[in-house]
Amino acid sequence: MENSTFFNKSFASISISFLFLLFLLPVLCLNGTDTSRIGSLARRPYGVPTQRLIFKDQRLAVVYPVIQAFKRTITEDPLNRTGNWVGSDICNYRGFFCDNPPDNESAIALAGIDFNGFSLAAPTLEGFVDKLPDLAIFHANSNRFSGSVPDVSKLRYFYELDISNNGFSGTFPTKVMGVKDLSFLDIRFNSFAGEVPQEIFNQALQLLFINNNGFTAKLPQNFGSTPVRYLTLANNQLTGPIPRSIRNLNSTLVEVLLLNNKLSGCLPYELGFLKEIIVFDVESNLLTGPLPSSLSCLVKSEVLNFADNLLYWEVPEELCALTNLENLSLSDNFFTKVGPVCRKLIRNGVLDVRQNCIPGLPDQKSLQECAEFYFKYISLCPNPSSYKTIPCRDNAAWNHLDESKTKTNATRNHHSEGTKTKKGPVTYKTLSRHKF
Ligand SMILES: *[C@@H]1O[C@H](CO)[C@@H](O)[C@H](O)[C@H]1NC(C)=O
Ligand SMILES: *[C@@H]1O[C@H](CO)[C@@H](O)[C@H](O)[C@H]1NC(C)=O
Ligand SMILES: *[C@@H]1O[C@H](CO)[C@@H](O)[C@H](O)[C@H]1NC(C)=O
Ligand SMILES: *[C@@H]1O[C@H](CO)[C@@H](O)[C@H](O)[C@H]1NC(C)=O
Ligand SMILES: *[C@@H]1O[C@H](CO)[C@@H](O)[C@H](O)[C@H]1NC(C)=O
Ligand SMILES: *[C@@H]1O[C@H](CO)[C@@H](O)[C@H](O)[C@H]1NC(C)=O
Repeated sequence: MENSTFFNKSFASISISFLFLLFLLPVLCLNGTDTSRIGSLARRPYGVPTQRLIFKDQRLAVVYPVIQAFKRTITEDPLNRTGNWVGSDICNYRGFFCDNPPDNESAIALAGIDFNGFSLAAPTLEGFVDKLPDLAIFHANSNRFSGSVPDVSKLRYFYELDISNNGFSGTFPTKVMGVKDLSFLDIRFNSFAGEVPQEIFNQALQLLFINNNGFTAKLPQNFGSTPVRYLTLANNQLTGPIPRSIRNLNSTLVEVLLLNNKLSGCLPYELGFLKEIIVFDVESNLLTGPLPSSLSCLVKSEVLNFADNLLYWEVPEELCALTNLENLSLSDNFFTKVGPVCRKLIRNGVLDVRQNCIPGLPDQKSLQECAEFYFKYISLCPNPSSYKTIPCRDNAAWNHLDESKTKTNATRNHHSEGTKTKKGPVTYKTLSRHKF
């Protein structure tokens, strides 16, 4: 870890850097030297005393006026976070971090800014973030910044932008598009609205959090082009079906949160190709049709949430046989049948089928509501035969996943203590405003 630098993006690809950033920052931060504090008083022609500052590096002298100009635009700083933004020792300003830039290992540059939780208010970040030429990371969760999103496309090392839980509004910040190395984009909890431009799904992001805004777009056909591993689009007004191109995310997508939107249509059988998926959550949408049996190919899945939709028919036994499932929520739909494997999961507290239409189980919808739904609303899904197809069964590409096959054992013991020491899903934490 000691060799990690702000400019080393591969660090971000190995783990999610923001989780560790706070621990690394003190190590990365260069200490001020005594000479940096030496200043001499000079007198300007008008008799105003100014300090002639000596900077550790020319690059810091260049960003000094940019920072000071920004400081003057800050209208609120209740935690006195800007209190030590004085003098030449920029690398020790609260929230600022320096590092040696890739183009000159002996230079010192302003590489990262982390204002998470600073509660600063300023009318704009333009003229600040976009004027810091070596900046690689800008994190500003839970402040009160607004205005236009700064244009980071000219910053040659830039790769992480987090402006979550601020006061930004307007359309999707298209200025972030085409930022070649951008790998981390978190704009959740703002008031952005309108379309989600499809270009964003072509960009080489690892992580895209745009939940809790007012986006109204349809998921675009190129949805399946995004290389992201973590995707949260929850709590918007997104419409349309889940594009079948989602099958192309077979080797990348790990967690996806689509809950609380207005997605409609039948679940595509292609969901079964998402071999890496651990969390898939589409709670509270308008999705309909049966659950495709292909979902039983999601061998790594731990949390699958389809609650509060218009899904119907039977719950595939193969799905309930998945070995890593911890929470399969199907409540508040119109399912009519669960077999013995699924019933075992219900007893284990893994499967929730409350408020469905399953005869003999407690807490189900009324017969009248179920009958009405089945008479009025059912329309056939395209490709009906695909609903029984299980792509991982007879496909050579899946066979190296043998482990999963042998593990498919309906009698295994869910929630057995001591066997799991994992961290749990990452993305659910994005559903709260503040940094996690
Ligand atoms: C930074 O300086 C402080 C005192 O100013 C010192 O305690 C600390 O050990 C220094 N850290 C590094 C990494 O040099
Ligand atoms: C803010 O912080 C600076 C330095 O950290 C300190 O000198 C100043 O007194 C503080 N101001 C208030 C109002 O607490
Ligand atoms: C690298 O940075 C150092 C320190 O700022 C500077 O003295 C040197 O001239 C720079 N080298 C080049 C090739 O720019
Ligand atoms: C993902 O799917 C593509 C075709 O859609 C296939 O060529 C590729 O081998 C698959 N990747 C994995 C890891 O299964
Ligand atoms: C399963 O997920 C649902 C929806 O997120 C949640 O309400 C429920 O508490 C979870 N159940 C368990 C056992 O973790
Ligand atoms: C399934 O697991 C149980 C114990 O968890 C074990 O006794 C049984 O042999 C396993 N069955 C298969 C087919 O692996």
